[in-house]
Amino acid sequence: DAEPVCASVPITAEVLKCSLTDDFDCPAEYDATQVIDFKSLPLPSGPPRVRRPAHELDDAYVKKFEEAIRRMKELDEDDPRSYYNQSGIHEAYCDQHYNVVSSGSPDVMFDVHFSSIFAPWHRMYIYFFERILGDLIGDPTFGLPYWNWDSPEGMMLPSIFLNESSPLYNANRNQQRLRSFMDLNLGPAKQPNLPEPECTGDALCLLENNLYSMYRQMTVDTPEEFLGGKFCSFGTKYTGSLENGAHTAAHIWAGGDMGSLKTAARDPVFYCNHSNVDRMWHLWTTTLGRDNLPYQEWLDTSFVFYDEMRRPVRISVQDVLDNGKLGYTYQEKRNLEWLQKRP
Ligand code: C2O
Repeated sequence: DAEPVCASVPITAEVLKCSLTDDFDCPAEYDATQVIDFKSLPLPSGPPRVRRPAHELDDAYVKKFEEAIRRMKELDEDDPRSYYNQSGIHEAYCDQHYNVVSSGSPDVMFDVHFSSIFAPWHRMYIYFFERILGDLIGDPTFGLPYWNWDSPEGMMLPSIFLNESSPLYNANRNQQRLRSFMDLNLGPAKQPNLPEPECTGDALCLLENNLYSMYRQMTVDTPEEFLGGKFCSFGTKYTGSLENGAHTAAHIWAGGDMGSLKTAARDPVFYCNHSNVDRMWHLWTTTLGRDNLPYQEWLDTSFVFYDEMRRPVRISVQDVLDNGKLGYTYQEKRNLEWLQKRP
């Protein structure tokens, strides 16, 4: 077995270089002297943004969400806040566009998936996306709805994504599946030490299986098993259950753009999927009382994102461990059904 080669320095924006290809524009270059440290910005004041289940939104909230996405899609392509650029950020960071240009790191194309960078990077990404959406509709309390696939009522595509005349619509999805229940076991996560429940193939059984698999992904033993390992060379990478489980299943299940990392963020449902992934991480550290990874290299990992004022902001893993400090919360109104599903 080859020795794993893992990053010995924190991954930061400075050690990454984006390369263009024929059909891809790298995220807008920023002037390094203009980068603001997130820690130097005032903490949010006023009421927190509340992220709500996407299947329970009232009409007024749906209108707000649609209007925000519409305006983002209407922005100029070279505006870093535009939907074009925002979805391109995801493509850049996970479709072989970033090289790691530093010694002490594996010589592979950089990707924010398949390691412990997954959870914090996506938290940062949708956090700035949410701020931009709120700003575009003049509502600093706007919270990104979450696709509540961990609860039986949320185990379908939320109906707000079915309206063909809405900016939330995407014609490339696997339309045949859209009105049936999801299968959260489509992902690569398999933990054979826990038994599958007996299943006869009906819908109720599918929902039961989904709850078991939620229980499995949420109650692994260690933070590494949940969040993933260090950023290492391919073949030795270690993906956490947070990523490998329902998250990946939702991508595969929705299909179309969502089905590949390159195009996934072109589908608006991507952001609601990740709002729920982020909520799962939040539940891990709060309701479940579990730990984050302890090592400094992870905590010092940082990236630069544009905020709603088009300012490049450097934000580190350490900065995003507590979403309360970021100014958002999750609406939780019922029991977590999966928590009762110990096999
Ligand atoms: Cu960056 Cu759900 O993937």
